[in-house]
Amino acid sequence: MCGIVGYIGENQAAPFLLEGLARLEYRGYDSAGVAVYTDDGIEIAKSKGRLQVLSDQIHGGNDINGFMGIGHTRWATHGEPSDINAHPHASVSGKFAVVHNGIIENYIELKTKLEKHGYTFTSDTDTEVIAHMLEYYYKGDVLDAIIRIINRLEGSYALGILCADCPDRFFAVRKSSPLIVGLGRGENFIASDVAAILKHTRDIYYLEDNEIVELTSDGVKVYNKDKEEVPKEISKITWDIDAAEKGGYEHFMMKEIEEQPTALRNTISPRIKDGRIILDSVSLTKDDIKNIRKIYIVACGSAYHVGVVGKYVIERMCRIPVEVQVASEFRYCDPIVGSKDLVIAISQSGETADTLAALKEAKDHGARILSIVNVEGSAIAKASDDVIYTWAGPEIAVATTKAYSTQLAVIYLMAGYMSEKLGMLTSGEYKRFIDDLERLPDLVAEVLKNKENVQHLASMFYNCHSIFFIGRNLDYAVALEGSLKLKEISYIHSEAYAAGELKHGTISLIEDGTLVIALATGSGLFDKTVSNVKEVKARGAVVIGVSTTENPMTGIADHTITLPETTDVMLPSLTVIPLQLFGYYVASNKGCDIDKPKNLAKSVTVE
Ligand code: G6P
Repeated sequence: MCGIVGYIGENQAAPFLLEGLARLEYRGYDSAGVAVYTDDGIEIAKSKGRLQVLSDQIHGGNDINGFMGIGHTRWATHGEPSDINAHPHASVSGKFAVVHNGIIENYIELKTKLEKHGYTFTSDTDTEVIAHMLEYYYKGDVLDAIIRIINRLEGSYALGILCADCPDRFFAVRKSSPLIVGLGRGENFIASDVAAILKHTRDIYYLEDNEIVELTSDGVKVYNKDKEEVPKEISKITWDIDAAEKGGYEHFMMKEIEEQPTALRNTISPRIKDGRIILDSVSLTKDDIKNIRKIYIVACGSAYHVGVVGKYVIERMCRIPVEVQVASEFRYCDPIVGSKDLVIAISQSGETADTLAALKEAKDHGARILSIVNVEGSAIAKASDDVIYTWAGPEIAVATTKAYSTQLAVIYLMAGYMSEKLGMLTSGEYKRFIDDLERLPDLVAEVLKNKENVQHLASMFYNCHSIFFIGRNLDYAVALEGSLKLKEISYIHSEAYAAGELKHGTISLIEDGTLVIALATGSGLFDKTVSNVKEVKARGAVVIGVSTTENPMTGIADHTITLPETTDVMLPSLTVIPLQLFGYYVASNKGCDIDKPKNLAKSVTVE
């Protein structure tokens, strides 16, 4: 949440900052601002609204001249979105300008103390205390002042800091919020995420908590809290720059939907060698797997929905009990978890605050942690015993699609891997499983070819006020994701229900014309879900039925979407595709801002 970027070099800073912020807007987009070191000192421009408002205000950055600056795009936590609450925030005398991503938990205490020393506050943010504290502690050495403040700040922060006394350098520091340093030639950068600087460099430093960075145009020095210089290793980013561009698509979301076959191939292929699943990054032995008492899956949002699929898949294939919980609940429920348990944390960004906290809670209880993460070097990856990366590439649209799909693929890889180690599959069953896993990217591509059908259905139903998704077992797990996809980008109320549960209350909401999307892909439960379809139709519902070629819904549902066949446990990967498309096209028909839905941010680093 919130994106920050910083630049020093031979080029004008302001246009660079705007370009970098545009790539970070997915992190928050209620206001934006820049601070640039100019001949007249630090100049700040900021405004409420999308980045474009700021860009228009400063004419694409051309109004502010200077070769060093910091920028910010905000998702409000403390204080409503407004010009005043937008970052950067300046200290009283204007000596310091600060951009911040994170939350300062003890800001009220710090604010009270500063007020007693005569400091006045203009914004409602927690960030403003940082600017004033820097000024309070500054005695001529910015590093010293930063060390003083980080000893007092509680919470999370990634900070970019300009000081009026330092025309040739700026500073940054992070704790529990992401921040990377980009190394260029004659120019250097900071950013919340590589997407912001990928066009300029592929060489980066990952920072540990409380490492302080001093950037000049010629070099970068990293210090610890004792002001000792820390040697850093350069990491090379291999992501393709095209991956972070729209590439002719109207929205990142559709580009990312279409990228799913490739993302799946990248995630699955390197892990299958000579007909076997090889998970090099996983150190769990056969005995470790045999001794697992219980698996917990913790995650948020769509990653949680992957966990719900994971429960069905792992229990079915490995016969190990699996409990899946949203991370924000798990962390506070005093979980019965210990050294015999495996905790799987799923996260695209690898920085979701609740997931990270849940993982730490489990770790404190002695559990082993395996994470499924998309962003290399992220906090969740670092805090885990084992990591399996989803090679989805950068995902920009707030509504996840390809990250969700690759997370599912990792669940299949893990379930197949563990079930082989446990001797649960015959060699024939294992071979079929591997064949279907390798075929999955092509099957997803096949489903994507039928998007006109979904587009047509979306054009018929985009005016609905409420839409229900129903399904049983794995279909129910996908229904949760389909419903979330729809509501988050189209703002249509939607609920997902276990098909057999609807009659215990919620069926009272079904009336003439209510749209129900019924998922009935699992062959074993087809007839059961068909009975539920009949129940809702008898009460006036219009039904879109999603099922496979083996059991088409023709004559049962009013409209049908038919998917190719594959191993039962992998059907969620196919079922989710028309639901992603349905959400997309409904939102498109309604004229919604698909990539940046209201009130949301992609990466949620607050509780
Ligand atoms: C936000 C996003 C969701 C995402 C969730 C978890 O709410 O909008 O799309 O599923 O966070 O994010 P993570 O990065 O942990 O997967």
